[in-house]
Amino acid sequence: MQKIATTHLQPGMVIARNVFSADGVLLLSAGTVLNNIYIERLRLLGLSSIYIQNPLISQLSDSEIIDTIPEIVREETRVQAVQVVHTAFQNLATTHNIQTRQFKETASMIIDEVIKNNGAMIQLTDIRSRDGYTFGHSVNVCVLATMTGVQMGYSIPQLRELALGAMLHDAGKMLVPKEILVKPGPLTACEMKIMQQHPDLGFDILRRQSEIPLLSAHIAFQHHEKFDGSGYTRRLGRTDIHEYARIVAIADVYDAITSDRPYKEGILPHEAYEIMMSLADTHFDPAILQIFLSQIAVYPVGTVVKLNTGEVAMVIRVIPGLQTRPTVKIIADENEQLLKDGRELDLTKHLTTFISKVFTETEALHFSFITPVR
Ligand SMILES: [Fe+2]
Repeated sequence: MQKIATTHLQPGMVIARNVFSADGVLLLSAGTVLNNIYIERLRLLGLSSIYIQNPLISQLSDSEIIDTIPEIVREETRVQAVQVVHTAFQNLATTHNIQTRQFKETASMIIDEVIKNNGAMIQLTDIRSRDGYTFGHSVNVCVLATMTGVQMGYSIPQLRELALGAMLHDAGKMLVPKEILVKPGPLTACEMKIMQQHPDLGFDILRRQSEIPLLSAHIAFQHHEKFDGSGYTRRLGRTDIHEYARIVAIADVYDAITSDRPYKEGILPHEAYEIMMSLADTHFDPAILQIFLSQIAVYPVGTVVKLNTGEVAMVIRVIPGLQTRPTVKIIADENEQLLKDGRELDLTKHLTTFISKVFTETEALHFSFITPVR
């Protein structure tokens, strides 16, 4: 399975994961063979990329390794959660109220699945259509924050407070004028000031809901504070920021930088890892950041990389805690000639071999169209 930009789709490619619209409607199901009409529709819907079955893997005949990447949260759960957030956030803009019961049920479902899959790593970035960014983002932040809470040994009541606050962290954005919220270019100083009110606006709504714990409301209030005190709304620093909000701040930025946005593809996980590391101490609590990053696959399964030997390889296995040293399968020699039966290399054991370059999804696709030579 491979994520590729919709601009690079070609007829005959096979969809590997169901494609949903922002409001959870199934657009195309896994297994569908793309034709020009489907491709055109996907582009019109504003989807920047989708997952396709990797023809390279089929050529290498070990598809079972790649195509069974475990999901932290089931697709149905994710879609249902996005629907709940979508409906509730749209109502919130007009009623200034929130249907708490559905949020609580969704948070519990996510917590159950994250606990069940404890130890699995985040391998895939989510895919959503242009309009759905805030809704998909809310759910992703909830999953990432809950995973971190589980790693930190939180109790179920603590996880409930964390998950609920994480899902609702941007609720205040629904009260920001839409033209500012979806403005494609940079915001003016005045618009920025209005945008930066969203933690305050969210807190104000959430703290008045009797069913929502006050600490969950504080996540919305504090999620843009920075560890060194340079954030907003109140320039809190270090432990003055509640631990839940310190977790959500990390999940929020990670999901934002790895997600595809209109006209911009998300950056690759190893680049995101470097960016996040560079923000330890200033932006983020370094201890929590370390726990968070230990769950992220720096080189997700399926990534095509160049080794310092000049050979091209594909990541086929990742061990938590040793994410920078995955097991790879050599797929092409140093002249980029595809090999039919390349060897496997466990980089935790071959310490002089390292990854020197990561091919983008589009570059990696190029290898799919070369015929193996030996
Ligand atoms: Fe925010």
